[in-house]
Amino acid sequence: MSRCRVCQHALLEFFDFERQPLSSAFVAPDGTDDEFFFRLAVGMCESCALVQLIESVPPELAHHEGYPYHSAGSSVMTKHFEETARRFIETELTGPDPFVVEIGANDGVLLHTCGEAGIRHLAVEPSGAGTVRVHRAFFDAASAAAILATDGPADVVYSANTICSVPDLRPVFEGLDVLLASDGVFVFEDPYLGEILERTAFDQIYDEHVFFFTVRAVQALAERFGFVLADVERLPVHGGQIRYTVARAGRRTPTPAVAELLAEERELGLTDMATLEAFGRKIQGIRTELVALLHRLRAEGHTIAAYGATAKSSTIANYCGIGPDLVPYVCDTTPAKHGRLTPGSHIPVRPAAVFADPYPDYALLFAWNHAEEIMAKERAFREAGGRWILYVPHVHVV
Ligand code: TYD
Ligand code: ZN
Repeated sequence: MSRCRVCQHALLEFFDFERQPLSSAFVAPDGTDDEFFFRLAVGMCESCALVQLIESVPPELAHHEGYPYHSAGSSVMTKHFEETARRFIETELTGPDPFVVEIGANDGVLLHTCGEAGIRHLAVEPSGAGTVRVHRAFFDAASAAAILATDGPADVVYSANTICSVPDLRPVFEGLDVLLASDGVFVFEDPYLGEILERTAFDQIYDEHVFFFTVRAVQALAERFGFVLADVERLPVHGGQIRYTVARAGRRTPTPAVAELLAEERELGLTDMATLEAFGRKIQGIRTELVALLHRLRAEGHTIAAYGATAKSSTIANYCGIGPDLVPYVCDTTPAKHGRLTPGSHIPVRPAAVFADPYPDYALLFAWNHAEEIMAKERAFREAGGRWILYVPHVHVV
């Protein structure tokens, strides 16, 4: 039986995507023989209600050595991190000589913005990419102690799109206990289970997303390690996230937003097995519809390309059996992905410029989390008669 990564109680499985590759393992055209596959399935802890993957990818096979170095190539995300930095500067980094730490540095935009305001800052990540000052390590009690010794306590520890992919959260909270100032906060943002269910955004489920947080589960998680969930805020980025603010127990009174979202989750039955099983049936429905649409368009002689070789599209492509026969190529701005094939589904990745040369009749928007930005940028595609295919929150053509 699989057990909860946090409290060791049994996991109740509610959906099985079966054989899936590693979502970031873009393969060379001659390297498809030794791809790694694992069983991608999700369940909920019967005790703390934390929704999580049933099986873990062996750490030595995980594509990212450490925390994913996240480069969405999105101007919306750059703005998001700049705004988050400014918010911290106004509300949390107000004392004399404040100090901010980011776990997994996300292009360094947030820390860079803090640095421009004269605030001491440090990224903690093993890979050490980016332009800001980096402490090369996993964030745990040992690295936190080393940082404390050189830089003193942190007023803010921030992390975006990283905590949900750290299978063992105990060392993270032990590190926070060492490094956070007595009134410091740990702020993290990750995809929200409520949003995933509401939009049937099942492509958020892949190897690197180990946890699908809810307010209920994060509150239990924080309390388990001697902290309190002090605030929650819904964010529109990346298809719907929550920003959680965690403080040392007794140091902050939770804002009304915490109780409000908790009540909303209860009302929606977010962590009821019946709700999660209904989500599973919707996933199957989307697969049936999307595959039928793509086959019909191809049978009618239309050309189709995909847009955005995202990690999350790995689940869609592999679960729906979408390969190069249905969608001959995917355009993406990331040079490292060019000339490679999407994991498992083997769709060739081409540069973004290929998209207009010539436009396909239909574009399957794998990067739907950036829909607004991409559709604005690619206005000429629509004007030339092109149509976007979306599958979130349901299969539709625009
Ligand atoms: P991202 O949003 O990080 O999603 P995931 O975590 O699922 O990988 O990835 C966005 C991908 O889409 C990335 O490979 C870059 C690509 N992209 C484009 O090709 N054009 C664009 O305009 C944007 C915003 C992204
Ligand atoms: Zn649990």
